[in-house]
Amino acid sequence: MSRFCPVYPKPLKSKASMLLMFFGKRRSWLDGLYERSYGMKMGEIKLPGLELYMVNEPPLVRRVLIEQAAKFPKHTLLGKLLKPLLGESIFTTNGEQWQRQRAMMDQSFAQTRLKLVFPLMKAAASAMTERLDKLPDGIAYDVDVEMTHVTADIIFRTILSQTLSGESAHKIFDAFTRFQELAPRIVNPVLFKLPRLFSPWLAIRRSNQAAGEIRAHLEGFIRPRYDAHQQGNPGAHQDILASLLDAVDPQTGRGFSFDELVDQVAMLFLAGHETSASALAWSLYLISMSPEIQERMHAEAVAVLGDKDPDYSDIKQMSLIWNVFRETLRLYPPVGFFARQATETQTMRDKTVHAGASVVIAPWLIHRHRDLWERPDEFDPDRYNTDSAKESLKCAYLPFGLGPRVCMGATFALQEAGLILATLVQRYRFEPVPEHPPQPVGRLTIRSDNGIRVRILKREETAEKTP
Ligand code: HEM
Repeated sequence: MSRFCPVYPKPLKSKASMLLMFFGKRRSWLDGLYERSYGMKMGEIKLPGLELYMVNEPPLVRRVLIEQAAKFPKHTLLGKLLKPLLGESIFTTNGEQWQRQRAMMDQSFAQTRLKLVFPLMKAAASAMTERLDKLPDGIAYDVDVEMTHVTADIIFRTILSQTLSGESAHKIFDAFTRFQELAPRIVNPVLFKLPRLFSPWLAIRRSNQAAGEIRAHLEGFIRPRYDAHQQGNPGAHQDILASLLDAVDPQTGRGFSFDELVDQVAMLFLAGHETSASALAWSLYLISMSPEIQERMHAEAVAVLGDKDPDYSDIKQMSLIWNVFRETLRLYPPVGFFARQATETQTMRDKTVHAGASVVIAPWLIHRHRDLWERPDEFDPDRYNTDSAKESLKCAYLPFGLGPRVCMGATFALQEAGLILATLVQRYRFEPVPEHPPQPVGRLTIRSDNGIRVRILKREETAEKTP
């Protein structure tokens, strides 16, 4: 089976009531989508105190994200939600503050730096295969946990030159899981402008506690490096923290303060591992369901790599592996929606969008839009060899966002995904666990409510290969 329709929450027949959306037993916003959500150009939700538009039409998406990006800054709600964890980081700031941060940080993700950190990524990939090699052959395994471990390890190594021991990986993983699960409970009352009586104070306290734990781990790593840099001893590190310590504001000539650095590193940790872990875990589910594609990926990895580990220049040569990842990002875009806020009143289609209104752009919907993609719900990595998909890519594909706020780590993420997927298909075969189908939910990223479990089998010809 090379093409098939992978799991996604069955759309409702008609629009869900907002009360049900809030108080009902839905696991996430994905469960509230209805059939027409996947075909409309623009939708709206109006309630007392809430004016929200869902924009799917490509020219309008371009207007919000590219042409008039400054008039549609990031939603303040996002900043409020993430502040305990990310402080004033680049992910949530706007205006001049964001511009200054972006100018200071872009260099840290330029090609030259990515080439420097590739060996650090490779070391994390080897540590992953060491862990997997120890598992009993054929075990049904929660690969989302392993993908979170390896991507967090990659972030630790490339940003801080630290490895992530199993114990702290699990502590951080637990804290992130708690933080993620609490997010909708904190956002919904604010979004729906419910009275203070409904304030989820317990959820807020637990979320702040989780954020505090994550930041405490990070501060312990950053403090000695910051102090040494301040004293004129930058050290010999070639990681991303080294370039952040060197970064200066082009206007004032000043670098990041300690707190700003912690904010940015916490943000890179969240934005940089949670998204990649989600996409890689979904990739493994998809290829476990498609043995034909998986065999072709294996053949491609063996043809390019033989039995050696992937090198920097190998990654771009594996076009099928790249297309599988591209298709995964289409079907399960880790960032399911982007929330913006209109700063001035303007017309969109036949609607008056007032200043202050929320404008939401959802790759989840655009990537599965009935008019923008052929066979939108099917997994078919070969579609990217067709003209039709090439057209759709141009106007209806935005897993990394668009415009000035486009993902700063997109090239990093693609390099990492190519490395991990090539390493995995070269050495292992993945089979589905039919009694444990994943259940997509939209939290901070698109994850599976019950994890992603696949069976892992060692390939004989690579079983003897050294890591
Ligand atoms: C598959 C992996 C990834 C996906 C799908 C992804 C997706 C995104 C998206 C959609 C945005 C823009 C959100 C918006 O416009 O509201 C974004 C922003 C960002 N991402 Fe990623 N990301 C990934 C990996 C990474 C990695 C590995 C890093 C860094 C190590 C990173 C760093 C950032 C940063 C710093 C921003 C904020 C940019 C700004 O606002 O100027 N991302 N990402």
